[in-house]
Amino acid sequence: MKTYLVTGGAGFIGSNFVLYMLDKYFDVKIVNLDSLTYAGNLENLKSLEKNPHHIFVKGDIGDAELVSDLFKKYSFDYVVNFAAESHVDRSIKEPELFAKTNVMGTVNLLNCTKNAWYTEENGWAKGVKYLQVSTDEVYGSLGDTGFFMEDTPLDPHSPYSASKAGADFMVKAYGDTFQMPINITRCSNNYGPYQFPEKLVPLLINNCLNHKDLPIYGDGLNVRDWLFVADHCKAIDMVLRQGVLGEVYNVGGHNERTNLQIIKKVISYINENVDEEVTEKLMTYVEDRKGHDKRYGIAPDKIKADLGWYPETTFEVGIEKTIKWYLDNKEWMANVTTGDYQKYITKMYK
Ligand code: NAD
Ligand code: TYD
Repeated sequence: MKTYLVTGGAGFIGSNFVLYMLDKYFDVKIVNLDSLTYAGNLENLKSLEKNPHHIFVKGDIGDAELVSDLFKKYSFDYVVNFAAESHVDRSIKEPELFAKTNVMGTVNLLNCTKNAWYTEENGWAKGVKYLQVSTDEVYGSLGDTGFFMEDTPLDPHSPYSASKAGADFMVKAYGDTFQMPINITRCSNNYGPYQFPEKLVPLLINNCLNHKDLPIYGDGLNVRDWLFVADHCKAIDMVLRQGVLGEVYNVGGHNERTNLQIIKKVISYINENVDEEVTEKLMTYVEDRKGHDKRYGIAPDKIKADLGWYPETTFEVGIEKTIKWYLDNKEWMANVTTGDYQKYITKMYK
């Protein structure tokens, strides 16, 4: 039985990862540490309420006492750090919070992990690993050509990407200085079930269904490289098991789309599948995001060649699956946006 400390496992990717792992393996125990910000929703994990392999703990990755106690109570084999503030627009309004959670929270987690896994006498515990879930946004922005490689210098622009880059450097420092067994994954934009509707894909679906404007930042020609969330989960699992210690792995599926292409895809799916017409008139050009990165495009060559990872879901299949999921789960969308259900279910776990 391998025991995992998964942080941020009530958020979008974290909850998909917890569900993916518990579906795939019977010999896995997951302690899920999440402070339940607006982005963390226990409703995502409702199907695990009676699963003894999942233990939810409400708490902050920056709380040294709590994290150390968890290490004493459970002998973790792996730490997977998803916990973060993750939305670029919020980071422009509240940079301090992003530095606190993403940088200082990560440093605390690294420190508690080192204290639990390392002794002067015996060195590092055997078979353990800390994995930092990072993003392609740390590399900055591309022109019309080229891709981010693992050795592309970090050049973050937003407070979000700068805080993620800061965390990456601290993880690397623990690897280089203390020989801590670490890996870093840097993935492109994810889409799929359970994503909070402030990010582009779920926001568009929610607004289409409510006949609200679809905000297009700038000219709508910024490019993002989209990956179905289950393929990201698969990559993290493979890096945990097979990744060479100290290495960084880029994760992405070469699915670059302009934001306008995404918006038109969502509108056309809704029009073909829902009995209410959504017109392109809802598309509304708004002021551009400050410092808006033009293009992300990631080269996943290393994880493919060295670990045999490949994405299983094409963009066309994944985006249709995703839109269908939101249409089938309108209650989830309503609950996470009003927050009432979240408050109720949080009380249940206290
Ligand atoms: P999310 O915002 O949906 O979830 C973040 C989770 O972290 C939430 O459950 C929140 O409650 C929790 N959290 C926040 N602060 C915490 C704290 N101090 N202590 C404990 N828990 C805390 O984010 P996401 O989209 O699922 O992203 C997860 C990770 O993956 C992040 O580190 C993000 O940088 C990275 N990432 C995201 C994407 C993407 O497209 N969404 C792509 C690449 C990498
Ligand atoms: P987002 O989902 O916030 O992810 P990120 O900024 O981390 O890539 O945004 C994806 C792209 O969509 C980005 O170029 C900004 C753009 N965007 C809009 O045009 N309108 C919106 O309402 C949002 C949320 C994003």
